[in-house]
Amino acid sequence: VPIQPIRKIAISTGGGDAPGLNAVIRAVVLAALQKGWECHGIRDGYNGLLDPTAYPEGGVVPLTRASVAGITHLGGTILGTTNRGNPARFPVPQPDGSYVEVDRTDELVERFQAAGLDALVTVGGDGSLSIGYLLARKGLRVVGVPKTIDNDLDRTFMTFGFDTAVSFATECLDRLHTTAASHRRVMVVEVMGRYAGWIALHSGLAGNADVILIPEIPYDVEKVAETIRARQRNGRTYTVVVVAEGAREVGGDFTVQGRAVGQAERLGGVGEKLARQLEERTGKEARTVVLGHLLRGGSPTSFDRLVALRFGAAAVRALDEGQSAVMVSLAPPTVRYEPLKEAVRRMKTVNLDSDTIETARELGICFGD
Ligand code: F6P
Repeated sequence: VPIQPIRKIAISTGGGDAPGLNAVIRAVVLAALQKGWECHGIRDGYNGLLDPTAYPEGGVVPLTRASVAGITHLGGTILGTTNRGNPARFPVPQPDGSYVEVDRTDELVERFQAAGLDALVTVGGDGSLSIGYLLARKGLRVVGVPKTIDNDLDRTFMTFGFDTAVSFATECLDRLHTTAASHRRVMVVEVMGRYAGWIALHSGLAGNADVILIPEIPYDVEKVAETIRARQRNGRTYTVVVVAEGAREVGGDFTVQGRAVGQAERLGGVGEKLARQLEERTGKEARTVVLGHLLRGGSPTSFDRLVALRFGAAAVRALDEGQSAVMVSLAPPTVRYEPLKEAVRRMKTVNLDSDTIETARELGICFGD
């Protein structure tokens, strides 16, 4: 079947935001315009198409050179995003206050085609990319761009947003060292990352943490307590602990805050729990800092800006080459394409045989094992 020429494409940003999304949007728009294509932005994931009445100013908006001027360095996404608008499991409120999840993907494909859109660039994490793959299977031309501060996407060396999150967490650790030392305290710093320990591992190492707890290595509280006591015996009167929100004790469960309709499990709270356990076991005062959404905000680092711009331009190049159902991927020193199907197959967690883990162990950092 001959491929229809592209005249009009759409871009959508979905899931939790990440610094660098606007840089992707800018690159997609400018590269598309250069090819003579029109580029439109869908508001809030796919909600702009699925629920247009909620957008008096338009659920799908034309993106011009002016709309993307001066946004490379801005955090967030000018299109908006959502992590509760999965069109395959769309939450529909019922009269009794409950929700029923319905599959609206066929409707989405119809609306996409009715709007005269020839192809979609979907920027997102595993959720949005899985939806992108589903839409590609239903006939849309789709290119995915991997985004998440968690860095847990497979088939790409790194996602944009991660470097910014790690840089900020590292700066926070630098600041916490001095106050921890002044007060001879244990400082527990909880970072995001879902079920992967990338942010905790990289910021913990760069920020000189004494203990790093990640989901990939279930921890024993007593081992952490003993590290604190041993440091004390050696005249090191304070300890900085980085704990990933998805870390858990050996044989224990994830610490969760609950689950909202249409959303994934919300992790959080392990830091405070651990601080209390450590206080009890060591007799030292412990404080908790939860970095949370601070890790998702702010200006992208130059590394993330560059990756995001390269990803955006590469997505347009892929469409121009007639590719579909692929994800743009960072494979230093270049950018290449991976089948979306493969990219969403599994989560990328920290490889315990990696030299980064080995380095941390050689520096004497405790993983609680
Ligand atoms: O996936 C990005 C992320 O920030 C995770 O690290 C975190 O668990 C989750 O999103 C938080 O989601 P929300 O913004 O819905 O609280």
